[in-house]
Amino acid sequence: LTDLIPLEWQGSQLRLLDQTMLPRQEVYLEITDYRQIVSAIRRLAVRGAPAIGIAAAYGVVLGALSIHTSNKKDLVKELQPVFTALASSRPTARNLFWALEQMQQVVEKGKTAGEIKNNLVSEALIIHAAQLSSDHSLSRAGATLIQVGDAVLTHCNAGALATGGYGTALGVIKQAFQDGKKIRVFATETRPLLQGARITAYELKTAGVPFTLITDSMAGAFMKQGKIQAVVVGADRIAANGDTANKIGTYSLAVLAREHHIPFYIAAPKSTFDFSIASGDEIIIEERPPQEVTCLQGVFVAPEGIEAANPAFDVTPHEYIKAIITELGIIREPFEEGIRNLRQGK
Ligand code: MRU
Repeated sequence: LTDLIPLEWQGSQLRLLDQTMLPRQEVYLEITDYRQIVSAIRRLAVRGAPAIGIAAAYGVVLGALSIHTSNKKDLVKELQPVFTALASSRPTARNLFWALEQMQQVVEKGKTAGEIKNNLVSEALIIHAAQLSSDHSLSRAGATLIQVGDAVLTHCNAGALATGGYGTALGVIKQAFQDGKKIRVFATETRPLLQGARITAYELKTAGVPFTLITDSMAGAFMKQGKIQAVVVGADRIAANGDTANKIGTYSLAVLAREHHIPFYIAAPKSTFDFSIASGDEIIIEERPPQEVTCLQGVFVAPEGIEAANPAFDVTPHEYIKAIITELGIIREPFEEGIRNLRQGK
């Protein structure tokens, strides 16, 4: 449905679409050094929780390939700063840390330096492929929740460019459309960095799904007018009780949806769940530079030198969530039990 591929491993380097330039320019970066991955994640050249995890896995591979030793101990030691740097790139998306943990296990299990390097490459490819397959599974599961003729609102971008290549929240929407459900989408522009206007709108246009772009502050009015029948968004981290961190503005949409009796769904793979935290209170919210708020695409829209807040995410308490759509099925109240079963693979 989309020609855009966020990441592609090319044997010894990573081809990465620079999402900061979309939709005006499609620029691909050829990345050969793990430090370039750290900076690409930080400046949102690659973004969206699952895509960040995949990029970090390839970052470990690039780090390992640059270490020239046949001594296992030296390799393990020299890989430590690689893991630390990648883990410091962004704090909120659970998938980043999940992917690094998968890669760390490969390092621990390997018997020789050569074996570890080979296995790291395979593991990154497996993580990437598994994510794409999860996208499709959860999209098919989620599409069953969308009715013929529904107008579905989504926030930020949880599409092909944010994931393994198809999408989570936007995957659900695209799948429902492909199933012939004649739906319509409302996409919020998503200030401050406009992932909705720049990326979701681009993706929906490419896929041929009918949609309307709205500013973030229009959602309530459209809901009140009966124009929206469901809200589907992605997630950056989901706690054991179902509390969900996602792009700033998600919480406001959840509160509005409840007021207007509109079902509010989260779509995310198992790798987004943080089974170690009891509630959303423990989620670290990234604070980004105030210039992202005072400037729009490099142009000041507010007086220079003023104070501006820029939390990148907020937490939606589980009480506002009707269901969480995963590749292993749809989780409903009581979330704690459903999430425990997900963890145990039941
Ligand atoms: O700051 P971003 O663009 O990385 O934020 C992305 C989101 O909030 C997405 O909704 C989330 O990561 C899920 S992507 C499938």
